Amino acid sequence: MVVNELISKGMTLIEGKEYSNPRLESILVLSQLLNVDKSYIYIHGDKTVEEPVKDKFISIMEKRAEGYPLQYLLNEGEFMGLCFYIEEGVLIPRPDTEILVQFIIDYIKNQDMNVLDIGVGSGAISLSIAEYCPNTRVYGIDIEDIPIKIANLNKEKLKISNADFFQGDLFKALEDHNIDEKFHIIVSNPPYIKTRDIEDLQVEVKDHEPLIALYGGEDGLDFYRKISKGALDYLRHKGMLIYEIGYDQGSQVMDILYKEGFENISILKDYQGHDRIVYGFKG
Ligand SMILES: C[S@@+](CC[C@H](N)C(=O)[O-])C[C@H]1O[C@@H](n2cnc3c(N)ncnc32)[C@H](O)[C@@H]1O
Repeated sequence: MVVNELISKGMTLIEGKEYSNPRLESILVLSQLLNVDKSYIYIHGDKTVEEPVKDKFISIMEKRAEGYPLQYLLNEGEFMGLCFYIEEGVLIPRPDTEILVQFIIDYIKNQDMNVLDIGVGSGAISLSIAEYCPNTRVYGIDIEDIPIKIANLNKEKLKISNADFFQGDLFKALEDHNIDEKFHIIVSNPPYIKTRDIEDLQVEVKDHEPLIALYGGEDGLDFYRKISKGALDYLRHKGMLIYEIGYDQGSQVMDILYKEGFENISILKDYQGHDRIVYGFKG
């Protein structure tokens, strides 16, 4: 089979699935298997593809057709212009989270700050801040061992030295690892899906992404309550607590921050105009 025929075959396999862009996804998979740039596929449509590569391509596209996320199949996800290693067991970084990270980078500018990221997943938030704010020291924590392993792997892959990762339950991870720090910024994209929404998630999320990265309790707000309360002991004076939130959680998360005594609380919207970020400052 030649490149063009294989791309058509890939497209046919995943055509009509709500979550896929058949042509682009087929090109991404084949270019990764051939270890070439995407442009190669456009220019060399008549090149013959070796049998083992063809078989691998079809098996990947068949898994994709079953709802397996592309990032897990390619072991790759892009975030803030950086290429992260991704595998099952960590949340796939989302474009909306880039708004949160960009806001933090703009806030830090060139200042010398330390940042705590709660729930690191692939390390997308921690490592992007560390990369774009070289004077910053980032501490990332996660309760699970796979995210800690993958975040460390990405730290090495991206050659970042100003971020470190620690396993443990929320702020207890700091005590467990004898980290006696107060932070200028505490950031978290915590699990925030509520019980009744879990079943309605897209199949590629529900069946493949880790539940512990998604489920935020009955009303989805468990982590906002716990982190907002705990953060007061770990933030510096006027330090910022900043969250990614579900599109319908803006006013509830703002209320949680008000109740804990945070000041200058605000909301930022995502690319679709939905509430996506809430932040406030320790008084
Ligand atoms: C929504 S994911 C965010 C991952 C990553 N920060 C991102 O934005 O792509 C939430 C993360 O919180 C972690 N987590 C869940 N419960 C936790 C806890 N009690 N303490 C620390 N981390 C926790 C999960 O393992 C998961 O990696």
